[in-house]
Amino acid sequence: MKISSLLRTATVLLLALTLACGGGSTTSTTTTPPPQTLRQVAAAHNILVGAAADSPYLSDPSYAAVLGTEYSQLQAENEMKFGIIHPGIGTYDFTGGDALVAFAQAHTMVVRGHTLVWHNQVPAWVTSGGYTSPQLSTILQNHITTVMQHYAGQVYAWDVVNEAFNDDGTIRDTIWYDQPGIGFAGMGTETIEQSLTWARAADTNAKLFYNDYNDETMNVKSDAIYAMAQDFKTRGVPLDGIGFQFHVDLTFDDPNALASVATNFQRFAALGLEIHITELDIRLQDSSAASLNAQAKLYGELAAICVQQPNCKVFQTWGFTDKYSWIPGFFPGWGWALPFDANYQKKPAYTSILNAL
Ligand code: G3I
Repeated sequence: MKISSLLRTATVLLLALTLACGGGSTTSTTTTPPPQTLRQVAAAHNILVGAAADSPYLSDPSYAAVLGTEYSQLQAENEMKFGIIHPGIGTYDFTGGDALVAFAQAHTMVVRGHTLVWHNQVPAWVTSGGYTSPQLSTILQNHITTVMQHYAGQVYAWDVVNEAFNDDGTIRDTIWYDQPGIGFAGMGTETIEQSLTWARAADTNAKLFYNDYNDETMNVKSDAIYAMAQDFKTRGVPLDGIGFQFHVDLTFDDPNALASVATNFQRFAALGLEIHITELDIRLQDSSAASLNAQAKLYGELAAICVQQPNCKVFQTWGFTDKYSWIPGFFPGWGWALPFDANYQKKPAYTSILNAL
């Protein structure tokens, strides 16, 4: 054998030995760690990172993969609302909600319930039934009790009452409040109090929330909700937290508004209430790089406010992919509101949330 062949053979043997012993160059031993997920980074702050979801989308493999990997909480976008879950007198349909709960359990996620008392998505059998206040009261109590008991131990927190206030701080005229209401018309927040009391009796372990929009900053609406919360805490009415929706656009990225959010969160936290960001999305009018980067900045700022507020326990967006978002249907010309694009690619907003959390 020639000297050159001997050398080549020896070199190959040496390399094989080195690799077998776990030595060798950096490239041969270093594996790139998998990228961190939102739920991993949020867990470090004891924050649940959630997304609204509906069960028909779970059959989309990409949808299921991202939801089950990135998020630690899900909430029914529609399938636990009155009209879907209680479509007829004495008729309940838990199919969609149960599918969401099963998905969550299979992916070690928790489920947030939405919503028991709301003026929208109430079925015609209720709105057109001509019920008296006492009859309506019985219907609502039965509804709250049946739904919460069905999900007891599976849904850890409920938006018991949703959007009961007008933006001027008065109570919204609704079938539950005064059309005809459940018996407290004109009495202020008694309808909300009664609903929370029924909810506590139905599932003593569930956390009970009041949820609304346009109350994220210090303003007349958040003042009214704060006054209610303060009164409820003083009198022992069961209320565990406030859900702040955050359906916003880029105009929200204003230092005064952001400071006002932090101040507002702090006053509710000082009452001993949990703060949940429940329905965040930041709608855009185009998907230019400038718009996506501006959106990312605001997402990061809001995530940072949650991290800095010890009572902020949930950072949840209203959906997670632009493929399925309520925005284009309700705000024509607007869209691109969520952290993943319509092809499930991470947008700048995703990275910004990850970094902030
Ligand atoms: O399921 C029916 C389907 O059978 C039918 O073919 C289709 C035709 O329009 O409608 C489908 O129902 C729609 C439902 O979403 C499920 O997709 C309703 O029309 C539509 O009105 C409903 O919109 C929901 C909206 O609440 C109702 O007010 C949105 O998806 C949902 O994102 C939105 O969520 C609310 C929160 O609950 C409370 N805060 C505000 C937030 C945004 O409006």
